[in-house]
Amino acid sequence: MVDIITKKRDGHALTPEEINFFINGYVTGAIPDYQASALTMAIYFRDMSDQEIATLTEAMVHSGDTVDLSGIRGVKVDKHSTGGVGDTTTLVLAPLVAAAGVPVAKMTGRGLGFTGGTIDKLESIPGFHVTLTPEQFIRSVNEDQIAVIGQSSELVPADKKLYALRDVTGSVESIPLIASSIMSKKIAAGADAIVLEVTTGAGAFMKDEEGAVRLAETMVRIGRHVGRTTAAVITDMSQPLGRAVGNALEVKEAIETLRGAGPDDLKELVLTLGSLMVCAAGKMTDPGAAREQLESLLNDGRALEKFRQFVANQGGDPNVIDHPDSLPAARFQIELPAEHSGYITELAADQIGLAAMQLGAGRATKDDRIDPAAGIVLHKKVGDPVKQGESLLTIHSNRQDVTEVTAQLKRSIRFGSRSVRPKLIHGTITE
Ligand code: URA
Ligand code: CA
Repeated sequence: MVDIITKKRDGHALTPEEINFFINGYVTGAIPDYQASALTMAIYFRDMSDQEIATLTEAMVHSGDTVDLSGIRGVKVDKHSTGGVGDTTTLVLAPLVAAAGVPVAKMTGRGLGFTGGTIDKLESIPGFHVTLTPEQFIRSVNEDQIAVIGQSSELVPADKKLYALRDVTGSVESIPLIASSIMSKKIAAGADAIVLEVTTGAGAFMKDEEGAVRLAETMVRIGRHVGRTTAAVITDMSQPLGRAVGNALEVKEAIETLRGAGPDDLKELVLTLGSLMVCAAGKMTDPGAAREQLESLLNDGRALEKFRQFVANQGGDPNVIDHPDSLPAARFQIELPAEHSGYITELAADQIGLAAMQLGAGRATKDDRIDPAAGIVLHKKVGDPVKQGESLLTIHSNRQDVTEVTAQLKRSIRFGSRSVRPKLIHGTITE
Protein backbone atom coordinates (compact mmCIF):
# COMPACT_ATOMS: atom_id res chain seq x y z
CA MET A 1 0.00 0.00 0.00
CA VAL A 2 2.91 2.36 0.73
CA ASP A 3 4.23 1.78 -2.81
CA ILE A 4 0.79 2.50 -4.27
CA ILE A 5 0.50 5.75 -2.30
CA THR A 6 3.97 6.99 -3.31
CA LYS A 7 3.39 5.99 -6.93
CA LYS A 8 0.22 8.10 -7.11
CA ARG A 9 1.83 10.87 -5.05
CA ASP A 10 4.53 11.11 -7.74
CA GLY A 11 1.94 11.34 -10.49
CA HIS A 12 2.06 7.88 -12.03
CA ALA A 13 -0.88 5.81 -13.21
CA LEU A 14 -1.89 2.84 -11.06
CA THR A 15 -2.32 -0.59 -12.63
CA PRO A 16 -5.60 -2.54 -12.38
CA GLU A 17 -3.88 -4.90 -9.88
CA GLU A 18 -2.95 -1.96 -7.66
CA ILE A 19 -6.43 -0.44 -7.79
CA ASN A 20 -8.09 -3.79 -7.01
CA PHE A 21 -5.61 -4.40 -4.18
CA PHE A 22 -6.58 -1.06 -2.65
CA ILE A 23 -10.37 -1.49 -2.92
CA ASN A 24 -10.37 -5.09 -1.70
CA GLY A 25 -8.00 -4.33 1.15
CA TYR A 26 -9.91 -1.26 2.22
CA VAL A 27 -13.30 -2.99 2.26
CA THR A 28 -12.01 -6.00 4.23
CA GLY A 29 -10.27 -3.74 6.74
CA ALA A 30 -6.75 -4.89 5.85
CA ILE A 31 -5.87 -1.37 4.71
CA PRO A 32 -6.32 1.23 7.47
CA ASP A 33 -8.09 4.57 7.06
CA TYR A 34 -4.84 6.57 7.28
CA GLN A 35 -3.39 4.86 4.21
CA ALA A 36 -6.68 5.12 2.30
CA SER A 37 -6.88 8.82 3.11
CA ALA A 38 -3.30 9.38 1.93
CA LEU A 39 -4.19 7.72 -1.37
CA THR A 40 -7.45 9.64 -1.87
CA MET A 41 -5.53 12.87 -1.22
CA ALA A 42 -2.86 11.84 -3.74
CA ILE A 43 -5.67 11.14 -6.26
CA TYR A 44 -7.17 14.55 -5.47
CA PHE A 45 -3.90 16.26 -6.45
CA ARG A 46 -2.69 13.95 -9.23
CA ASP A 47 -5.97 12.95 -10.94
CA MET A 48 -6.49 9.62 -12.73
CA SER A 49 -6.52 8.48 -16.36
CA ASP A 50 -9.74 7.22 -17.97
CA GLN A 51 -8.41 3.69 -17.69
CA GLU A 52 -7.72 4.09 -13.96
CA ILE A 53 -11.16 5.63 -13.31
CA ALA A 54 -12.94 2.83 -15.19
CA THR A 55 -10.95 0.20 -13.27
CA LEU A 56 -11.68 1.93 -9.96
CA THR A 57 -15.39 2.07 -10.79
CA GLU A 58 -15.53 -1.64 -11.62
CA ALA A 59 -13.57 -2.56 -8.49
CA MET A 60 -16.10 -0.57 -6.44
CA VAL A 61 -19.06 -2.23 -8.19
CA HIS A 62 -17.67 -5.65 -7.24
CA SER A 63 -17.02 -4.72 -3.62
CA GLY A 64 -20.59 -5.83 -2.74
CA ASP A 65 -23.84 -7.15 -4.17
CA THR A 66 -25.06 -6.20 -7.62
CA VAL A 67 -28.69 -6.17 -8.69
CA ASP A 68 -29.69 -8.57 -11.43
CA LEU A 69 -32.39 -6.99 -13.58
CA SER A 70 -32.09 -9.56 -16.37
CA GLY A 71 -35.60 -10.76 -15.49
CA ILE A 72 -36.94 -7.46 -16.82
CA ARG A 73 -37.55 -7.24 -20.54
CA GLY A 74 -36.05 -4.34 -22.45
CA VAL A 75 -33.18 -1.91 -21.92
CA LYS A 76 -33.21 -0.65 -18.33
CA VAL A 77 -32.34 3.03 -18.27
CA ASP A 78 -31.60 4.74 -14.98
CA LYS A 79 -31.44 8.46 -14.34
CA HIS A 80 -29.29 10.12 -11.73
CA SER A 81 -29.06 13.71 -10.58
CA THR A 82 -26.05 15.10 -8.75
CA GLY A 83 -28.58 16.89 -6.59
CA GLY A 84 -30.56 20.03 -6.25
CA VAL A 85 -33.28 21.92 -4.43
CA GLY A 86 -36.92 21.30 -5.26
CA ASP A 87 -35.75 18.80 -7.86
CA THR A 88 -39.11 17.22 -8.70
CA THR A 89 -37.76 15.68 -11.91
CA THR A 90 -37.88 11.96 -11.06
CA LEU A 91 -41.51 12.12 -9.90
CA VAL A 92 -42.54 13.28 -13.38
CA LEU A 93 -39.90 11.60 -15.50
CA ALA A 94 -40.35 8.04 -14.19
CA PRO A 95 -44.08 7.66 -15.05
CA LEU A 96 -43.61 9.66 -18.26
CA VAL A 97 -40.92 7.44 -19.79
CA ALA A 98 -42.71 4.34 -18.44
CA ALA A 99 -45.77 5.50 -20.40
CA ALA A 100 -43.48 5.62 -23.45
CA GLY A 101 -42.62 1.94 -22.87
CA VAL A 102 -39.22 2.37 -21.19
CA PRO A 103 -38.87 -0.03 -18.22
CA VAL A 104 -38.23 2.04 -15.07
CA ALA A 105 -36.72 -0.15 -12.34
CA LYS A 106 -35.68 2.42 -9.83
CA MET A 107 -33.74 1.87 -6.67
CA THR A 108 -33.54 5.02 -4.66
CA GLY A 109 -32.74 6.38 -1.24
CA ARG A 110 -33.84 8.87 1.34
CA GLY A 111 -32.54 12.41 1.35
CA LEU A 112 -29.91 13.89 3.62
CA GLY A 113 -29.40 17.64 3.91
CA PHE A 114 -31.44 19.92 1.72
CA THR A 115 -31.62 17.60 -1.27
CA GLY A 116 -34.80 15.64 -0.61
CA GLY A 117 -34.91 11.99 -1.59
CA THR A 118 -37.43 10.65 -4.09
CA ILE A 119 -38.69 8.10 -1.55
CA ASP A 120 -39.37 10.84 1.01
CA LYS A 121 -41.45 12.69 -1.56
CA LEU A 122 -43.42 9.61 -2.63
CA GLU A 123 -44.05 8.61 0.98
CA SER A 124 -46.05 11.80 1.51
CA ILE A 125 -48.78 9.98 -0.46
CA PRO A 126 -50.85 8.14 2.20
CA GLY A 127 -50.06 4.40 2.12
CA PHE A 128 -47.21 4.56 -0.40
CA HIS A 129 -44.32 2.22 0.42
CA VAL A 130 -41.15 0.94 -1.24
CA THR A 131 -40.76 -2.33 0.66
CA LEU A 132 -41.26 -4.67 -2.30
CA THR A 133 -39.64 -8.08 -2.55
CA PRO A 134 -37.25 -8.41 -5.52
CA GLU A 135 -39.85 -10.67 -7.19
CA GLN A 136 -42.66 -8.10 -6.77
CA PHE A 137 -40.33 -5.39 -8.03
CA ILE A 138 -39.46 -7.29 -11.21
CA ARG A 139 -43.07 -8.36 -11.82
CA SER A 140 -44.33 -4.77 -11.50
CA VAL A 141 -41.78 -3.49 -13.99
CA ASN A 142 -42.60 -6.25 -16.47
CA GLU A 143 -46.34 -5.66 -16.17
CA ASP A 144 -46.55 -1.91 -15.76
CA GLN A 145 -43.06 -0.63 -16.75
CA ILE A 146 -42.48 1.05 -13.40
CA ALA A 147 -41.56 0.29 -9.77
CA VAL A 148 -39.47 1.90 -7.06
CA ILE A 149 -37.68 -0.05 -4.37
CA GLY A 150 -35.64 1.13 -1.37
CA GLN A 151 -31.86 1.00 -1.62
CA SER A 152 -30.19 -2.19 -0.44
CA SER A 153 -27.47 -1.55 2.11
CA GLU A 154 -25.24 -4.16 0.50
CA LEU A 155 -24.60 -2.19 -2.69
CA VAL A 156 -21.09 -0.75 -3.17
CA PRO A 157 -19.76 -0.97 0.41
CA ALA A 158 -16.47 0.47 -0.92
CA ASP A 159 -18.30 3.72 -1.71
CA LYS A 160 -19.92 3.96 1.72
CA LYS A 161 -16.54 3.61 3.41
CA LEU A 162 -14.63 5.82 0.99
CA TYR A 163 -17.24 8.57 0.92
CA ALA A 164 -17.32 8.76 4.73
CA LEU A 165 -13.52 8.94 4.74
CA ARG A 166 -13.33 11.61 2.02
CA ASP A 167 -15.95 13.64 3.84
CA VAL A 168 -13.69 14.11 6.88
CA THR A 169 -10.32 14.28 5.09
CA GLY A 170 -10.90 17.00 2.50
CA SER A 171 -11.01 14.82 -0.61
CA VAL A 172 -14.66 14.95 -1.63
CA GLU A 173 -14.11 17.43 -4.49
CA SER A 174 -12.13 15.11 -6.73
CA ILE A 175 -13.59 14.35 -10.15
CA PRO A 176 -12.26 10.77 -10.48
CA LEU A 177 -13.53 9.97 -6.98
CA ILE A 178 -16.96 11.58 -7.48
CA ALA A 179 -17.40 10.02 -10.93
CA SER A 180 -16.47 6.50 -9.77
CA SER A 181 -18.67 6.91 -6.68
CA ILE A 182 -21.77 7.84 -8.68
CA MET A 183 -21.24 5.45 -11.59
CA SER A 184 -20.43 2.44 -9.39
CA LYS A 185 -23.78 2.82 -7.62
CA LYS A 186 -25.74 3.10 -10.88
CA ILE A 187 -23.96 0.10 -12.41
CA ALA A 188 -24.39 -2.03 -9.27
CA ALA A 189 -28.12 -1.18 -9.32
CA GLY A 190 -28.36 -2.94 -12.68
CA ALA A 191 -28.79 -0.15 -15.23
CA ASP A 192 -28.01 -0.99 -18.87
CA ALA A 193 -27.97 2.68 -19.78
CA ILE A 194 -27.58 5.78 -17.65
CA VAL A 195 -28.82 9.34 -18.13
CA LEU A 196 -27.16 11.84 -15.81
CA GLU A 197 -28.28 15.26 -14.77
CA VAL A 198 -25.18 17.13 -13.62
CA THR A 199 -26.28 20.25 -11.79
CA THR A 200 -24.28 23.44 -11.45
CA GLY A 201 -24.74 26.59 -9.36
CA ALA A 202 -25.40 27.50 -5.72
CA GLY A 203 -27.67 24.51 -4.97
CA ALA A 204 -25.40 22.00 -6.68
CA PHE A 205 -22.45 19.92 -5.72
CA MET A 206 -20.34 21.41 -8.53
CA LYS A 207 -20.63 25.17 -8.08
CA ASP A 208 -19.05 26.15 -11.41
CA GLU A 209 -19.95 25.07 -14.91
CA GLU A 210 -16.43 24.03 -15.89
CA GLY A 211 -16.27 21.48 -13.07
CA ALA A 212 -19.74 20.19 -13.94
CA VAL A 213 -18.75 19.66 -17.57
CA ARG A 214 -15.55 17.82 -16.59
CA LEU A 215 -17.50 15.60 -14.17
CA ALA A 216 -20.13 14.86 -16.84
CA GLU A 217 -17.52 14.03 -19.48
CA THR A 218 -15.68 11.77 -17.05
CA MET A 219 -18.85 9.83 -16.21
CA VAL A 220 -19.84 9.46 -19.88
CA ARG A 221 -16.36 8.04 -20.61
CA ILE A 222 -16.64 5.59 -17.69
CA GLY A 223 -19.94 4.43 -19.18
CA ARG A 224 -18.28 3.78 -22.52
CA HIS A 225 -15.39 1.91 -20.87
CA VAL A 226 -17.71 -0.41 -18.96
CA GLY A 227 -20.22 -0.90 -21.78
CA ARG A 228 -23.20 1.09 -20.46
CA THR A 229 -24.55 3.78 -22.76
CA THR A 230 -24.31 7.03 -20.79
CA ALA A 231 -25.42 10.57 -21.56
CA ALA A 232 -25.33 13.67 -19.38
CA VAL A 233 -27.18 16.97 -19.31
CA ILE A 234 -25.61 19.97 -17.57
CA THR A 235 -28.35 21.93 -15.80
CA ASP A 236 -28.69 25.11 -13.81
CA MET A 237 -29.28 24.75 -10.08
CA SER A 238 -28.58 28.34 -9.06
CA GLN A 239 -32.28 28.66 -8.17
CA PRO A 240 -34.67 25.85 -7.12
CA LEU A 241 -36.23 23.81 -9.93
CA GLY A 242 -39.91 24.54 -10.52
CA ARG A 243 -41.81 26.35 -7.79
CA ALA A 244 -42.30 23.79 -5.01
CA VAL A 245 -39.62 22.78 -2.48
CA GLY A 246 -40.86 20.18 0.02
CA ASN A 247 -42.22 16.66 -0.13
CA ALA A 248 -46.02 16.78 -0.49
CA LEU A 249 -45.69 20.15 -2.24
CA GLU A 250 -43.46 18.55 -4.88
CA VAL A 251 -45.86 15.64 -5.35
CA LYS A 252 -48.56 18.21 -6.08
CA GLU A 253 -46.22 19.98 -8.51
CA ALA A 254 -45.45 16.65 -10.20
CA ILE A 255 -49.17 15.90 -10.63
CA GLU A 256 -49.72 19.30 -12.26
CA THR A 257 -46.79 18.69 -14.59
CA LEU A 258 -48.08 15.21 -15.47
CA ARG A 259 -51.35 16.92 -16.43
CA GLY A 260 -49.41 18.88 -19.05
CA ALA A 261 -49.29 22.05 -16.93
CA GLY A 262 -46.68 22.75 -14.24
CA PRO A 263 -43.65 25.07 -14.22
CA ASP A 264 -41.84 25.62 -17.54
CA ASP A 265 -38.34 24.80 -16.27
CA LEU A 266 -39.39 21.50 -14.71
CA LYS A 267 -41.25 20.51 -17.87
CA GLU A 268 -38.34 21.47 -20.11
CA LEU A 269 -35.87 19.45 -18.04
CA VAL A 270 -38.15 16.42 -17.94
CA LEU A 271 -38.59 16.49 -21.73
CA THR A 272 -34.83 16.86 -22.31
CA LEU A 273 -33.88 13.99 -19.97
CA GLY A 274 -36.85 11.91 -21.08
CA SER A 275 -35.99 12.08 -24.76
CA LEU A 276 -32.43 10.92 -23.98
CA MET A 277 -33.85 8.03 -21.93
CA VAL A 278 -36.27 6.97 -24.66
CA CYS A 279 -33.39 6.95 -27.17
CA ALA A 280 -30.98 5.18 -24.77
CA ALA A 281 -33.64 2.48 -24.32
CA GLY A 282 -33.69 1.99 -28.09
CA LYS A 283 -37.38 2.95 -28.34
CA MET A 284 -36.65 5.78 -30.78
CA THR A 285 -33.56 7.16 -32.48
CA ASP A 286 -34.36 10.84 -32.97
CA PRO A 287 -34.42 12.89 -29.73
CA GLY A 288 -36.66 15.50 -31.39
CA ALA A 289 -39.29 12.90 -32.27
CA ALA A 290 -38.96 11.35 -28.79
CA ARG A 291 -39.60 14.74 -27.25
CA GLU A 292 -42.76 15.20 -29.31
CA GLN A 293 -44.03 11.81 -28.24
CA LEU A 294 -43.37 12.61 -24.57
CA GLU A 295 -45.19 15.92 -24.91
CA SER A 296 -48.24 14.16 -26.27
CA LEU A 297 -48.14 11.66 -23.36
CA LEU A 298 -48.26 14.63 -20.98
CA ASN A 299 -51.03 16.36 -22.87
CA ASP A 300 -53.35 13.39 -23.43
CA GLY A 301 -53.29 12.11 -19.83
CA ARG A 302 -51.41 8.85 -20.43
CA ALA A 303 -48.44 9.92 -18.28
CA LEU A 304 -50.81 10.82 -15.44
CA GLU A 305 -52.58 7.45 -15.76
CA LYS A 306 -49.21 5.72 -15.49
CA PHE A 307 -48.51 7.65 -12.28
CA ARG A 308 -51.91 6.61 -10.90
CA GLN A 309 -51.19 2.95 -11.64
CA PHE A 310 -47.72 3.23 -10.08
CA VAL A 311 -49.05 4.83 -6.88
CA ALA A 312 -51.80 2.19 -6.53
CA ASN A 313 -49.34 -0.68 -7.18
CA GLN A 314 -47.19 0.50 -4.28
CA GLY A 315 -50.03 0.84 -1.76
CA GLY A 316 -50.58 4.58 -2.20
CA ASP A 317 -53.98 6.25 -2.29
CA PRO A 318 -54.62 7.02 -5.98
CA ASN A 319 -57.29 9.58 -4.99
CA VAL A 320 -54.53 12.12 -4.35
CA ILE A 321 -54.17 12.43 -8.11
CA ASP A 322 -57.65 13.88 -8.56
CA HIS A 323 -57.67 15.48 -5.12
CA PRO A 324 -54.15 16.75 -4.40
CA ASP A 325 -55.66 18.67 -1.47
CA SER A 326 -55.89 15.34 0.36
CA LEU A 327 -52.07 15.27 0.60
CA PRO A 328 -50.64 16.34 3.97
CA ALA A 329 -51.04 20.13 4.35
CA ALA A 330 -49.30 22.46 6.79
CA ARG A 331 -51.26 24.30 9.48
CA PHE A 332 -49.75 27.70 8.65
CA GLN A 333 -49.25 29.34 5.27
CA ILE A 334 -47.25 32.52 5.51
CA GLU A 335 -46.57 34.89 2.63
CA LEU A 336 -43.25 36.71 2.18
CA PRO A 337 -43.88 40.14 0.62
CA ALA A 338 -41.27 41.82 -1.63
CA GLU A 339 -39.34 44.62 0.07
CA HIS A 340 -38.50 46.28 -3.26
CA SER A 341 -39.90 46.69 -6.74
CA GLY A 342 -37.76 45.52 -9.67
CA TYR A 343 -36.63 42.18 -11.01
CA ILE A 344 -35.54 39.09 -9.10
CA THR A 345 -31.85 38.55 -9.82
CA GLU A 346 -31.11 35.78 -7.35
CA LEU A 347 -32.96 33.02 -5.50
CA ALA A 348 -30.01 31.20 -3.91
CA ALA A 349 -30.98 27.54 -4.14
CA ASP A 350 -28.75 26.42 -1.26
CA GLN A 351 -30.18 29.05 1.12
CA ILE A 352 -33.75 28.21 0.14
CA GLY A 353 -32.96 24.52 0.58
CA LEU A 354 -31.69 25.21 4.10
CA ALA A 355 -34.82 27.20 4.90
CA ALA A 356 -36.99 24.28 3.73
CA MET A 357 -34.89 21.94 5.86
CA GLN A 358 -35.43 24.15 8.93
CA LEU A 359 -39.17 23.87 8.30
CA GLY A 360 -38.83 20.08 8.46
CA ALA A 361 -38.77 19.24 4.73
CA GLY A 362 -35.26 17.75 4.91
CA ARG A 363 -32.99 15.97 7.36
CA ALA A 364 -30.02 17.51 9.17
CA THR A 365 -28.96 14.07 10.43
CA LYS A 366 -29.97 10.72 9.01
CA ASP A 367 -32.28 9.89 11.93
CA ASP A 368 -34.36 13.09 11.66
CA ARG A 369 -38.03 12.73 10.78
CA ILE A 370 -39.38 14.55 7.75
CA ASP A 371 -42.50 16.70 7.92
CA PRO A 372 -44.16 15.83 4.57
CA ALA A 373 -46.30 18.99 4.56
CA ALA A 374 -43.50 21.49 5.19
CA GLY A 375 -41.81 23.55 2.50
CA ILE A 376 -41.84 26.60 0.29
CA VAL A 377 -43.71 27.54 -2.88
CA LEU A 378 -42.10 30.25 -4.99
CA HIS A 379 -44.38 32.67 -6.81
CA LYS A 380 -41.48 34.39 -8.59
CA LYS A 381 -38.41 33.04 -10.32
CA VAL A 382 -35.17 34.73 -11.35
CA GLY A 383 -35.90 37.30 -14.09
CA ASP A 384 -39.52 37.89 -13.02
CA PRO A 385 -40.71 41.47 -12.32
CA VAL A 386 -42.06 42.20 -8.82
CA LYS A 387 -43.83 45.08 -7.13
CA GLN A 388 -43.11 46.07 -3.55
CA GLY A 389 -45.53 44.26 -1.23
CA GLU A 390 -46.34 41.49 -3.70
CA SER A 391 -45.95 37.94 -2.33
CA LEU A 392 -42.66 36.32 -3.41
CA LEU A 393 -43.33 32.94 -1.86
CA THR A 394 -45.49 31.03 0.60
CA ILE A 395 -43.97 29.28 3.60
CA HIS A 396 -45.81 26.06 4.52
CA SER A 397 -45.13 25.31 8.17
CA ASN A 398 -46.57 23.34 11.05
CA ARG A 399 -44.82 25.72 13.42
CA GLN A 400 -46.29 29.18 13.81
CA ASP A 401 -42.98 30.91 14.51
CA VAL A 402 -41.05 31.19 11.25
CA THR A 403 -38.92 34.21 12.17
CA GLU A 404 -35.60 32.48 11.52
CA VAL A 405 -36.78 30.86 8.31
CA THR A 406 -38.06 34.20 7.04
CA ALA A 407 -34.72 35.86 7.79
CA GLN A 408 -32.92 33.03 6.00
CA LEU A 409 -35.20 33.39 2.96
CA LYS A 410 -34.75 37.17 2.81
CA ARG A 411 -30.98 36.65 2.61
CA SER A 412 -31.44 34.30 -0.34
CA ILE A 413 -33.29 36.80 -2.54
CA ARG A 414 -31.77 39.72 -4.48
CA PHE A 415 -33.39 42.40 -6.59
CA GLY A 416 -32.07 44.42 -9.54
CA SER A 417 -33.23 46.71 -12.28
CA ARG A 418 -32.77 44.31 -15.19
CA SER A 419 -34.39 41.00 -16.09
CA VAL A 420 -31.82 38.26 -16.64
CA ARG A 421 -33.02 34.66 -16.84
CA PRO A 422 -30.45 31.93 -16.23
CA LYS A 423 -30.12 29.34 -18.96
CA LEU A 424 -31.61 26.05 -17.69
CA ILE A 425 -29.80 23.58 -19.95
CA HIS A 426 -26.12 24.31 -20.41
CA GLY A 427 -25.51 21.41 -22.75
CA THR A 428 -25.75 17.69 -23.39
CA ILE A 429 -22.80 15.29 -23.46
CA THR A 430 -23.12 11.93 -25.19
CA GLU A 431 -20.61 9.34 -26.30
N1 URA B 1 -22.32 12.09 -4.80
C1 URA B 1 -21.87 10.82 -4.73
O1 URA B 1 -22.65 9.88 -4.81
N2 URA B 1 -20.56 10.60 -4.57
C2 URA B 1 -19.66 11.61 -4.49
O2 URA B 1 -18.47 11.34 -4.36
C3 URA B 1 -20.14 12.92 -4.55
C4 URA B 1 -21.48 13.13 -4.71
CA1 CA C 1 -39.82 21.70 -7.59
